[in-house]
Amino acid sequence: MARETWATRVGFILAAVGSAVGLGNIWRFPWVTAENGGSAFLAMYLSIVFLVGVPGLLAMFVVGRRAKRNPVGALRELSGSDRWGFAGGFLVFSSLVLISFYSVVGGWILRYLGESLLGVLTGSVPYFADPGASFGAASAGFDAVAFHLVFLTLTAFVVVAGIRRGIEVATKWMMPAIFALLVGLAAWASTQSGAAEAYAFYLRFDTSVIRENFFGLLGPAAGQALFTLSLGVGTMITYASYLDEDRSLPFDGASIAVLNTVVGVLAGLVVFPLLFSLGIEPGETGTGAGALFVGLAGAFAQIPGGAVVATAFFAVVALAALSSAISILEISVSFLVDEYDLSRRRAATTVGGFVAVTGAVCALNTAVFGFVAGTLVDILLTLGLAVCLVFVGWVMGRDALVEFRKGAGPVGRAVSTPWLFAVGVLLPTFLVFTLLTTFNVDAE
Ligand code: PFF
Ligand code: NA
Repeated sequence: MARETWATRVGFILAAVGSAVGLGNIWRFPWVTAENGGSAFLAMYLSIVFLVGVPGLLAMFVVGRRAKRNPVGALRELSGSDRWGFAGGFLVFSSLVLISFYSVVGGWILRYLGESLLGVLTGSVPYFADPGASFGAASAGFDAVAFHLVFLTLTAFVVVAGIRRGIEVATKWMMPAIFALLVGLAAWASTQSGAAEAYAFYLRFDTSVIRENFFGLLGPAAGQALFTLSLGVGTMITYASYLDEDRSLPFDGASIAVLNTVVGVLAGLVVFPLLFSLGIEPGETGTGAGALFVGLAGAFAQIPGGAVVATAFFAVVALAALSSAISILEISVSFLVDEYDLSRRRAATTVGGFVAVTGAVCALNTAVFGFVAGTLVDILLTLGLAVCLVFVGWVMGRDALVEFRKGAGPVGRAVSTPWLFAVGVLLPTFLVFTLLTTFNVDAE
């Protein structure tokens, strides 16, 4: 059977934006930003998104479109060496680690969405009574596992349906819905009492944070930048493998990064005013996975019409999480389909069965969850991207330039050579350096 391609020009961009926009923008981003002192960290993160992330995205597109294969097959075919196939295998492995915790958080979201909706229909929202205890219940035991399985099943359904009929169709209506709901929510949030303080938190540019702890911030900022752009596990290689030759990669890459940033900032404009209305500084609620859920649930509980707003909010988060999870699952599915000739259905059930178990471990064990969602994922992504960049710079070399220029406009062609130098030399050096600072800071 011929390999599928995206049916429409925007199909690829929307699917890639769907991958990028996710829990990273709405859940992890406010949490990490608050933990690291606010807008100065934000500036650092944005610089990395555009200086490292966009060139990195383009490198992944070049690999995927040139090879028209999953990450393992792509690195092996393009290099002619099985060793590089193993490097691709590392990406697939990382994607399984990632989806294991991602699906758990996706499950929490579905539960909050369900309870909010129930509140709209019946007039009483279960988690309003005691947000802290509710989060405890949602994130532990049988419930956490059950909702993780529901989320994973939804994800698998879309992946089984394929590129055009599944992923492309799903993301084509999900992305506009996310955007419209977020704009509405941000407008509504601007009327809340905490809005002024929240904007000040964004705009208060306290550079002392950076001066005092530049190297301490580098790891988290880089980790978050890669995470939000879905870099380092092979998603963008996989999605680009379904791409035709006539697309301008630089144009698509820049569009994806810009749209993703817009959604991130919009999410902050919703989340921070809510937290500040409650009188909590985002960093103060205690940080970590639950802070945002508890803080926001508390805020929704206190505002008139909170159930409706909560439903809209958790609908956004659920759609964003789902479209990202789809892109993560597609990595290992495409691997099994390409390399072992499985049907999409067989491949998705195989991977799904595996992740059902590994996700359940994350759902049940807070220590495992914290380690995976925080440290491990940052390290895997950084390492994975560094390896891919070295591959593009040193193994593909000239071929990468040829692929990069296909379909690119004059600007794209002009930046192609500096791009390859950055990809082969500057960015891997930067990534390895951030990894070292991460270990160094953790060891202190
Ligand atoms: N970009 C997603 C987010 O911000 O939530 C997370 C992600 C998706 C990371 C897909 C990596 C990936 F391959
Ligand atoms: Na998403």
